[in-house]
Amino acid sequence: MEETKKKIMLSGIQPSGDLHLGNYLGAVKNWGARAEEFDCYYFMADLHTLTVRQDPKLLRRRSLEQLAQYIACGIDPEKNVLFLQSHVHEHAELGWILNCYTMFGELSRMTQFKDKCAKNADNINGGLFTYPSLMAADILLYQTDYVPVGEDQRQHCELTRNIAVRFNNIYGETFKVPEAYVPKAGARVMSLGNPSSKMSKSDPNGCVFLMEKPEDIARKFKRAITDSDTESCVRFDMENKPGVSNLMNIYSAVTGKSFEEIEKEFDGCGYGVFKPAVGDAVIEALRPIREEATRLLNDKEYLRSVYTEGAQKASVIARKTLRKVYKKVGLVEKPF
Ligand code: TYM
Repeated sequence: MEETKKKIMLSGIQPSGDLHLGNYLGAVKNWGARAEEFDCYYFMADLHTLTVRQDPKLLRRRSLEQLAQYIACGIDPEKNVLFLQSHVHEHAELGWILNCYTMFGELSRMTQFKDKCAKNADNINGGLFTYPSLMAADILLYQTDYVPVGEDQRQHCELTRNIAVRFNNIYGETFKVPEAYVPKAGARVMSLGNPSSKMSKSDPNGCVFLMEKPEDIARKFKRAITDSDTESCVRFDMENKPGVSNLMNIYSAVTGKSFEEIEKEFDGCGYGVFKPAVGDAVIEALRPIREEATRLLNDKEYLRSVYTEGAQKASVIARKTLRKVYKKVGLVEKPF
């Protein structure tokens, strides 16, 4: 990518599980199309996954699978910088510095921290607590303008802004203050089994994975929980019809149709017609992604060349910001 004055877009996903429909609709789907307008950096947030115990072999495999899936979702490595977080050591280094500019109270208020504590009561480690400072480092290293994420990451992005402003106030302009970029449809995909909790890999029955077989996807949608209200009609009403509204949200995100258009399309049809139709639309949207990712995974050399080049490009920018930060906080410049 040539040096330009385009705005910077950056995001990452933890390779702690297979990518699911929530990751896709809330994040990745919106990334590929941005390459002309922005300089885009997308990474596998592998360091973040270590806050929860991982099987090392599986983590390595998933990191590469995730890269293949990014590319299969339309993120062209010729036009975007794709890399593994752990290959650019400046992330961990700036993460440490920013820990010292992030308050205990701020970290304690993070919803994801509270959720993860509840889920991993036997492993509430320091990394889990300071995770948002590392995420801030990921973002601020690249002087990022926009962070395309789902709704659940908005709070971390807000904290990143606060950290950037705090640092800039002490040391003068150092970091660009970034903005979260949350899509209208798909920002919060809920579990198919329980529409009051977000779709997540920890609830595999309510979760649709990108690489899942069509027949399994179809089954999950047929079994999706709809609402126990008396009117079995397709109408968007998050409060009283969360199950149907979630399916409408998914359908809207994959087809581009508005809620009004969807209500018209299924006017007079019951949930028995609507649920399989959503399943079919999702299957068709995911089919080319699954096929392309499978093809790419057989080409390990190619994937290696993508993440090598990506880390090299990312390092150039990351190094520049880190050097500036080290100087500002008073560290003696490295002589080599
Ligand atoms: P992670 O790995 O949990 O999720 C990755 C992306 O997927 C979105 N997402 C969803 N969107 C809609 N509905 C859902 N059910 C759903 N589940 C997940 C998330 O909002 C996110 O955009 N901390 C981040 C990873 C990260 C990062 C960063 C992101 C690390 N450093 C720097 C942006 C910039 C995380 O745990 O996302």
